[in-house]
Amino acid sequence: MRCGAPAQCRWPSGCSARPADPVGNAAGSCAPLACQALQAAQARSIARAFLPPQVWGNRRDYYYVRSKLGSDPLYDGVLRALPDDGAPLLDVGCGFGLLAHVMRQRAVAHPYLGVDVDAGKIARAQRAAAQAELAQVAFAVADAGSALPAHAGHVVALDVLQYLDACGQQRLLRQAAAQVARGARLLLRTPLATGDRRDHTTRLADRLAWWAGWMGTRPRHYPDPQHLRQTLQRAGLQVAPARPLHGRTPFNSWLLVAHRP
Ligand SMILES: C[S@@+](CC[C@H](N)C(=O)[O-])C[C@H]1O[C@@H](n2cnc3c(N)ncnc32)[C@H](O)[C@@H]1O
Repeated sequence: MRCGAPAQCRWPSGCSARPADPVGNAAGSCAPLACQALQAAQARSIARAFLPPQVWGNRRDYYYVRSKLGSDPLYDGVLRALPDDGAPLLDVGCGFGLLAHVMRQRAVAHPYLGVDVDAGKIARAQRAAAQAELAQVAFAVADAGSALPAHAGHVVALDVLQYLDACGQQRLLRQAAAQVARGARLLLRTPLATGDRRDHTTRLADRLAWWAGWMGTRPRHYPDPQHLRQTLQRAGLQVAPARPLHGRTPFNSWLLVAHRP
């Protein structure tokens, strides 16, 4: 087990596949992944890098990071699903690069490159990574809907797919799959078009985040799980059944793990 990772996070076993199930596994009979958000002290310690340089500066990023890390099991779930092999990791739509902070807090050593279309977020991510003295962590501005930087290793895209239209998603998935090295993984955390209450809550929250100006891009398309799976399989990846990864949040968040044999 990796240091700092709580013991409760485990992949449910014994989920039998049901053909009628929209996400390719027995949703409803499989419990959500029991991964954990960070403990308050761990979240605070990372959030400090996002404090403004002046004491009277705006602390919005600091409070956002604290609350995100303290409530969302995303980063624990991702690190649980990544082999600790030191292969380079590309984080597509990285936002503030929080995954890099959690990796280094847990002494997980993959060289990290985060890319995001939002130049302002990338600047804040770079400032915080420098403030926290994160080693082997870099950021760049890139539009995941057009071209990704050259890379071979693991690829993650966390809560970003829905900001691309259906064609952009297909392009991104094909490009990302091509960058997954042999033995490496592609991890997607994404809402899925499941048509249930969580789906509706997520669509509403994504729209509100855009209207409020927190997200610079509006949500465009909520992926169909079967399409995701087929695209990745056609690109030569083996795809495990999607698992809910939402913790106590009300959102329709799923983790999809694919690997290149
Ligand atoms: C909900 S945030 C997730 C941030 C990060 N992945 C995380 O989970 O901590 C979605 C991110 O996707 C980025 N994004 C949206 N459209 C994008 C695109 N076409 N190319 C790259 N990034 C994009 C946004 O700027 C935003 O930072």
